[in-house]
Amino acid sequence: MSAGPILAIETSCDDTCAAVVTDDGGILSNVISSQGIHDEYGGVVPELAARAHVERCDLVIADALRTAGVGLDDVGRVAVTRGPGLLGALLVGVQAAKAIALARGLPLVAVDHLDGHLLAGTLRPTSFDPPFVALVASGGHTFLSRVDAPDRMTELGATLDDAAGEAIDKGARMLGLPYPGGPHLERLAADGDPFAFDFPVARGVAGMDSSFAGLKTALLYRLRDMDDAERERRRADLAASYQRAVVESLAIRVERALEATGLDRLAVGGGVAANGPLRERLRGLGVAVGIPDRSLCTDNAAMIAAVARFRPPVPTADVATLAPYATGQRAEVVA
Ligand code: KG4
Ligand code: ZN
Repeated sequence: MSAGPILAIETSCDDTCAAVVTDDGGILSNVISSQGIHDEYGGVVPELAARAHVERCDLVIADALRTAGVGLDDVGRVAVTRGPGLLGALLVGVQAAKAIALARGLPLVAVDHLDGHLLAGTLRPTSFDPPFVALVASGGHTFLSRVDAPDRMTELGATLDDAAGEAIDKGARMLGLPYPGGPHLERLAADGDPFAFDFPVARGVAGMDSSFAGLKTALLYRLRDMDDAERERRRADLAASYQRAVVESLAIRVERALEATGLDRLAVGGGVAANGPLRERLRGLGVAVGIPDRSLCTDNAAMIAAVARFRPPVPTADVATLAPYATGQRAEVVA
């Protein structure tokens, strides 16, 4: 593979991201431009996200190169998120990456976004390498994988309905908290009793799949049964109990995965990994736990570079026609 660091681009959702990463996992820069334009809608608006990527993609790439202290002449290859994600949003990053690769004669590596979350912790300074069980919990995805090597990963289970972050955001909204609800819910929960309400953790869902639909409904019914004064008085208890249910639900699946695989290492990624009680619960499982810095848990381009280290480039003849995918087409490398 060419010498020189990897320039990676990630635009799958609402963060415009570019990073420069060395082949041995050193992060020279990791620029994340959060659009901050979707909050008032309570969720990401795809068309607005794509437009914002168009406006800032070039600037973010230039910033990543400048921060890393490298020019395009120094870059060894380009990596980009091909999917899954919002098609219009992905397209912006893919087109930018193709343009740079073609104009500069650089190899282009197409990366699956979910593989990025799985391998984010392999970067320095966490340097948490496979084999491990990986839990990825964010606003868009919640799944568990067995990662035997950077190019050998098998999905063990995934959410049957909402992602954990989505469940957190919806619960937070019911409690009158702003979007995205995770950090607000965690703060409110700190003043509450996590055992005040017994919310469901979908223990009955077999295997390593998870489900948060019942939990959401349970909170809705609880709130419905209360008058305004009680709702206000019990807010922190409701938040703490709801958060505990999400944490327990995830921890139960992780325990099942560790048992099923016999592995004693756990990598955690996705925005929900920022949650203090979740980290504490998982660290108490008695296995080695690798949780990278928050900037590597949420969507970022460094994690895309992390994967690109272990993937072959797109054949030169196919670069011009490379298209993103919204769902499904997990890379061929998956075992
Ligand atoms: O990975 P991420 O930044 O974006 C994607 O969804 O891809 O994850 C965002 C999710 C949101 O649902 C947010 O509420 C949740 O992560 N989150 C948290 C915390 N910080 C962010 N959930 C619980 N506790 C937190 N401290
Ligand atoms: Zn993500």
